[in-house]
Amino acid sequence: MIAIHQKDKSFSDNWIKYCNKNDIKYKIVNCYDDDIIKQLADCDGLLWHWNQNNSDAANFARQLIYSLEHKGTKVFPNSKTVWHYDDKLGQKYLLEALALPLIPTNVFYNKNTALEWAKKTNYPVVFKLSRGAGSMNVMLAHNYGQVQKIITKCFGKGWKDQNRIHALKERVWSFRRDKSLKSFFNIGRGIVRFVLPHPTHRVPRVEHNYAYFQEFIPNNDCDIRVIVIGQRAFAIKRMVREGDFRASGSGFIVYDRAEIPIECVRMSFEAAKTLETQSVALDFVFKDGLPLIVEISYAFLQSVYLKCPGYWDHELNWHDGSFLPEDFIMEDFFKQLEAT
Ligand SMILES: Nc1ncnc2c1ncn2[C@@H]1O[C@H](COP(=O)(O)OP(=O)(O)O)[C@@H](O)[C@H]1O
Ligand SMILES: [Mg+2]
Repeated sequence: MIAIHQKDKSFSDNWIKYCNKNDIKYKIVNCYDDDIIKQLADCDGLLWHWNQNNSDAANFARQLIYSLEHKGTKVFPNSKTVWHYDDKLGQKYLLEALALPLIPTNVFYNKNTALEWAKKTNYPVVFKLSRGAGSMNVMLAHNYGQVQKIITKCFGKGWKDQNRIHALKERVWSFRRDKSLKSFFNIGRGIVRFVLPHPTHRVPRVEHNYAYFQEFIPNNDCDIRVIVIGQRAFAIKRMVREGDFRASGSGFIVYDRAEIPIECVRMSFEAAKTLETQSVALDFVFKDGLPLIVEISYAFLQSVYLKCPGYWDHELNWHDGSFLPEDFIMEDFFKQLEAT
């Protein structure tokens, strides 16, 4: 018996379909329930797709997962897959420790040390918060003056992790990109959300007492995202927004397999093996023709990948045709369960 945390428009929709199709015994659980451990007593495994929009999940998901692993329950995502999710600080240490090619990254926990570095570094640099998606908390700083202000804020009042101006600008960008009626009305909705944020965003978390900078890697009009689930990889190319260096969240996606450098796929398989992840999305930009990792993430918006024309296996053979990433996760999960 396995347990699935059900949430509409998450991986659970297709996980449940997979179980029904393959006659697999499952029960629906709610990981937010106080007695969740008791509910899982008769289960061999738990699958729970939580993401950065569920800020309440981030309060306890890792702790729940680790506790279940300790008692021998299989979990997706497991700890090695998820502990660094939406945690760029964690990813810096992990990728450096495993000698994986992260963009050169500097982190400071002391204002004076950060300012000393800023006096000597090359500009521009990329400033990021540890948390965030869709480029929301990523900005370019061109000179010492700008970085000085950023650092002062990092060690002063801090940064809200929800950026309402960015959210509104994104809707305007979607309209410029799509020129559809839907994206036009979306701007209206965005104005409402600007004034009256969604309940989950009303009390933003404040990020402070650290400053995270990356070397700016110029001349990238896209990033390459490769997702590795077990022995399979699929990929997309994400174009940057007009007049911007940021690709994540642009919605400008190229699915053509010929546009994906195979070196990124090869590196991703290797990285996934080193990271020992069940599922990992790796984002790459290029410096002097060589791919560097921007960030990693176990979860992704599954609907985006429905248009992928196929996937590679670990020997880099191409398999043509549509697929569901959620099925890949399930197949691997059952293999792991059987192995134990
Ligand atoms: N150091 C960098 N140099 C050049 N481009 C970058 C760098 N870091 C990020 N980017 C661009 O900005 C986008 C968003 O950055 P990322 O760190 O992935 O933030 P998010 O977590 O919001 O996706 C990336 O998709 C990439 O296109
Ligand atoms: Mg990203």
